[in-house]
Formats: sequence, C-alpha cells, structure tokens
Amino acid sequence: MSKSGFVHVYVPGATPDAPALLLLHGTGGNENDLVPLGQQLFPGASLLSPRGKVSEQGMPRFFRRIAEGVFDLEDLIARTHELADFVDEFKTDHEQSRIIAVGYSNGANIAAGMLLLRPTTLAGAVLFRAMVPLVPEKLPDLREIRVFLASGGRDPLIGPQAASDLRQLLERCGALVSHRWIEGGHQLTQEDLSAARQWLAKEFR
Ligand code: MLT
Repeated sequence: MSKSGFVHVYVPGATPDAPALLLLHGTGGNENDLVPLGQQLFPGASLLSPRGKVSEQGMPRFFRRIAEGVFDLEDLIARTHELADFVDEFKTDHEQSRIIAVGYSNGANIAAGMLLLRPTTLAGAVLFRAMVPLVPEKLPDLREIRVFLASGGRDPLIGPQAASDLRQLLERCGALVSHRWIEGGHQLTQEDLSAARQWLAKEFR
C-alpha cells in the first residue's frame, strides 16, 4: 500500500520512455482484472492498477452512487482527488512523466473525473463506456490532453446522449477527443481493444 492507501498491482515496464497505464476497473472488478488488457493495449508499458475503495454490497467501486448513473458528488470529488494524489505520488517515485488512464465503466467515469478536476495528472485517457461524472464550476484547460472514448451503440446503462455529452464537455475543455461507436452493449468487445490499441500506438508511441 502506498501513502494514499490503495491496494494495487504494479507491473514495471520493459520499454524505457514508454508511458505508464493507469488501469481502472468497473463495478465489481478488482486490481487484477485489467492487467492482461493493459499488456495487450500497450506492450512494454508500466501498469499501475489500483482497486476502488468503495464497496457496494461487496463489489469494489471507485466512488459511491445513489442509484444507477446517479452519483454521490461529494464522495466522487473526494475520491477523485485521493486517486489523483496516489497517481501523482507514483509519478514522482517512478520518475514517470506520462500516465494514460485506461478505465472501464465506473473506472472510466473516475478517470473522466480526474481529467476534469486534476487536469495535470494524466497525459491522456482511454475511456470505455464512460459518461459525464460531474461538471466542474470552472472548466479545466485540457488542450494538451488526448482522449479515446469508446461507447456501445446499444449500451443499456450509458445511452448515446450520455456518451455524447461527455465528448462535448471534454471538447469544450480543449481536449482532442476521438469518439468511437462500438457495435455492442456495455461489455467490452474485440473491436474496443483493437481500436484502443491502434489509437494508443498512433498518439503515444
Ligand atoms: C457508474 O456507476 O460509474 C456507472 O453507472 C457505471 C457502472 O455501472 O459502474
């Protein structure tokens, strides 16, 4: 455990100067879930994979929700800063300047929260099945940030409007967003993986 106290997995990278991936699981997942995905998405990158600290009936999450898609904003804000502190500490300890978040569902939502509340922590983000977590009072400057957003065309949890709202909010902050509509629902598909892998290779190799 680090000072910020997240249970996590760390896999050192094999490629010098490669960015590190911050892997953020979905509701009910844990720190091991996305490690194989991270290895596929960016071979040679370091991987940092924390476990969300909130338990919803035994299922780990990164922040509390009041209902499906309705978030406890106070908790979300506090936990976003706590996670960003953990990542900033990792950057210092490992002399790692570039961190790219790779989040799925609840993990993608807290990654979007980090972009909006702590705009200097991440260099970019891959957001699978994300929605707007919150709208900050003052929009951050995200002109240096590149985001890959992958939304399911038939996602019953995050509809097309919710996904498009996030793209528009990030674009209003100046982020360069690539938004891909995937043939499928909330689950990840092979199309998600190959599109994200190609995007990472183009933007960050
Ligand atoms: C959330 O709670 O972050 C979203 O509703 C996605 C999820 O089900 O985890």
